[in-house]
Amino acid sequence: MLRFDSVTKSFGANTAVEAASFTVDKPMMIGIIGRSGAGKSTLLRMLNRLTDATSGEIEFDGTNVTALRGAAKRTWQSQCAMIFQQFNLVPRLDVVSNVLHGTLNRRSTFSTMFNLYPDEDIHRAIDILERLGIAEHAPKRAEALSGGQQQRVAIARALMQDPRIILADEPIASLDPMNAQVVMQSLRDIHEQDGRMVIANLHTLDTARRYCDRVIGMRAGKIVFDGTPFELTTDTAREIYGADASFSEATTSTEIETITAAPIAAQ
Ligand SMILES: Nc1ncnc2c1ncn2[C@@H]1O[C@H](COP(=O)(O)OP(=O)(O)O)[C@@H](O)[C@H]1O
Ligand SMILES: [Mg+2]
Repeated sequence: MLRFDSVTKSFGANTAVEAASFTVDKPMMIGIIGRSGAGKSTLLRMLNRLTDATSGEIEFDGTNVTALRGAAKRTWQSQCAMIFQQFNLVPRLDVVSNVLHGTLNRRSTFSTMFNLYPDEDIHRAIDILERLGIAEHAPKRAEALSGGQQQRVAIARALMQDPRIILADEPIASLDPMNAQVVMQSLRDIHEQDGRMVIANLHTLDTARRYCDRVIGMRAGKIVFDGTPFELTTDTAREIYGADASFSEATTSTEIETITAAPIAAQ
């Protein structure tokens, strides 16, 4: 259903993603792991056309995504909802209005200007918030919520688009471990219950192992691993994170996590 065929993105002389190829046959929960600068965000951004590939082709259910223009491109972008590390909500706006923003692409400028939402959409937004366990916060300003709650609002806004794919770019990088688990479990539930494909950029191995069916490892723009979490050995982790991440054979994934978390925190 999803196919990357030798997809490359260059920024001047710098190749952010180099000849990335992979195929996804059915909706899965996929974790993309790698160090900061490995090309994870660029890969996701090319999929939802926030950035254009320099060469190669991305295909979804027979559609050449890389060739979409105008309205067709916008439709694709709404089917391919993205959530971000920093949530990207409108802080002063209430939670339910933030979620309703997920319907913007199919509403007229007039109704948008006057904040006129059909009752049906409002009910759906509340249902989605309920599903994510945050309906009680619906009338509050987004900025009044904790980080974990705000990320769930962002997920609700994505679901409001009824997307085929949810792309999550480091969705838990700003969260404490407990909130991180709640957010990852929400994404997992959405995948299992709705059958949506979820692709999440993650910087920790453990998270990818725990929640994903498949892991794609990137290093310096290249895909260096593509397999199940069980196939991800310490050797493979070393390949993904680099030889300079000095850990011994006995190193556990938690220790690797500590090593690799450092450059992320410095961002
Ligand atoms: N808009 C841009 N302009 C120039 N270089 C970029 C841009 N976006 C990303 N890059 C470069 O592409 C490489 C991959 O970046 P990115 O995809 O953000 O990696 P990751 O998400 O794994 O940290 C990095 O070297 C980064 O500096
Ligand atoms: Mg990134």
